[in-house]
Amino acid sequence: MTIRTLQKVIPSIPASDGAGVKLRRSLGASQLARHDPFLMLDEFYSDDPNDYLAGFPSHPHRGFETVTYMLDGHMQHKDSGGNTGDLGPGDVQWMTAARGIIHSEMPQQTEGRMRGFQLWLNLPAKEKMKPAAYRDIPASAIPSVAAGKGTVKVIAGSFQGTTGPVHGGSTDPQYWDLHLEPGAVLEAPLPAGHNAFLYAYEGEAVVGEDRKALPHRAAGLLSQGDAVRVQAGDKGARVLLLAGKPIREPMVQYGPFVMNTREEIEQAIADYQAGTLTAP
Ligand code: FE2
Repeated sequence: MTIRTLQKVIPSIPASDGAGVKLRRSLGASQLARHDPFLMLDEFYSDDPNDYLAGFPSHPHRGFETVTYMLDGHMQHKDSGGNTGDLGPGDVQWMTAARGIIHSEMPQQTEGRMRGFQLWLNLPAKEKMKPAAYRDIPASAIPSVAAGKGTVKVIAGSFQGTTGPVHGGSTDPQYWDLHLEPGAVLEAPLPAGHNAFLYAYEGEAVVGEDRKALPHRAAGLLSQGDAVRVQAGDKGARVLLLAGKPIREPMVQYGPFVMNTREEIEQAIADYQAGTLTAP
């Protein structure tokens, strides 16, 4: 067994997206700050509605998947496929934009705390133009596994024999939410060959046998190996773990479109302008 080490830390930086939602962006903060197949990780958290009320009004996507995981507050989703959803605490929305979707993601509350994540996960060329798909996953459908002095919520992939609601697919994503008590150690197999990273959204942790520090609110990219080891700091930690099979294809991003070539980006823009982005 080879335990992965912490290879690179990408700190999160304050950013604003949609109609002015304040958030912190780690992966995706620059063209270089990516980890194939993962394109972006945004964390949004605020007690001040002015930071989030404007939401993410109608906007398009093509060529990848967006995964929204709410911790606090509510987000209402509407899309061009006629899907509507109301994400509450602990709920996940797994949206495969593929050929195209136009959607809005709007906070529903006018006061109180809003906290959650949006992850962008790339698709291989052969799946970029397949029909869009949308999945609402209620918190009750996400298994929670006891692991020593901690628990692991398995949103995607599998952890110690427990499989989450999303599994398989070309990138075989593993999306775990680790809740670790002070000093707790979590050691678990992770598929060899997957690219993986961690993000401590509460507290701090050390990673690997050489105990490299994973700072608060930073993406920690892991080396290759077939296992991961995380130890929470003395105040405990909550850490997202993401792993996926790298796609290893050329990639061109233009805002909400992620394709393989510049021509495909131009086609996406033309389709959006012509109103045919989402048409089969
Ligand atoms: Fe979106």
